[in-house]
Amino acid sequence: MTEHAHGHAADPTTDDAATAEEFWDEFYRKSDRVWSGNPNFALVREAADLTPATALDVGCGEGADSIWLARRGWRVTGTDIAQAALDRAAEHAAAAGVTDRVDWQRHDLTVSFPTGSFDLVSVHFLHATAHLSTIAALRSAAAAVAPGGVLLVVQHAAPAEGTHHHPYHVQFPTSREILDELDLVPDAWEVELDEVLERASTGHDGEAATRTDNILKVRRRTA
Ligand SMILES: C[S@@+](CC[C@H](N)C(=O)[O-])C[C@H]1O[C@@H](n2cnc3c(N)ncnc32)[C@H](O)[C@@H]1O
Repeated sequence: MTEHAHGHAADPTTDDAATAEEFWDEFYRKSDRVWSGNPNFALVREAADLTPATALDVGCGEGADSIWLARRGWRVTGTDIAQAALDRAAEHAAAAGVTDRVDWQRHDLTVSFPTGSFDLVSVHFLHATAHLSTIAALRSAAAAVAPGGVLLVVQHAAPAEGTHHHPYHVQFPTSREILDELDLVPDAWEVELDEVLERASTGHDGEAATRTDNILKVRRRTA
């Protein structure tokens, strides 16, 4: 994910937060900025050559990916469960001069999903946790891809190096497991990229670390 600007927040599995919405809202309200504000590496690399059209950023957090896309001419819908994150994202979009290109929508993806179809649907680090099964959200994300469009799903393949106890009880699926969750009709989709990428990162303690991510890029065929 866009790396932490500060240390991590609470543990949803032990927190008193009654709902996922309360947990994530609190997660963002605890600091002025959680993520770095930089777009995710895989998005920058994989979307750079796409013709700007319509994009959906699923679990957009503070909006760095949505804003990067908007600056490149995409019309973006950014969605997240946390209103606190969306409010901050809207502020950053205003500062970047792209307010009119991004539509921020609050959805709990276990309950609802943005309507419409999109030329790019990007899902970065929406991991299954004690609060969230990602199956329905990933399938809705695939269903929202327009003919000829791209679905980009990026998840960590393992906890950050040196992390012995992950604070969020996050699951780290393989690409095969992500593809199984997506349950794509084989003839209707082409897998353009299935990559395990190791990259330099920053751990929760601020130390240099290595992260391994699974990157899946699939394109919906036009016919
Ligand atoms: C690890 S963060 C990733 C944020 C952003 N995509 C990035 O890469 O910086 C996961 C995001 O998923 C959101 N999220 C978690 N559960 C959700 C749900 N049920 N519905 C919608 N968003 C959810 C959180 O609020 C959080 O912003």
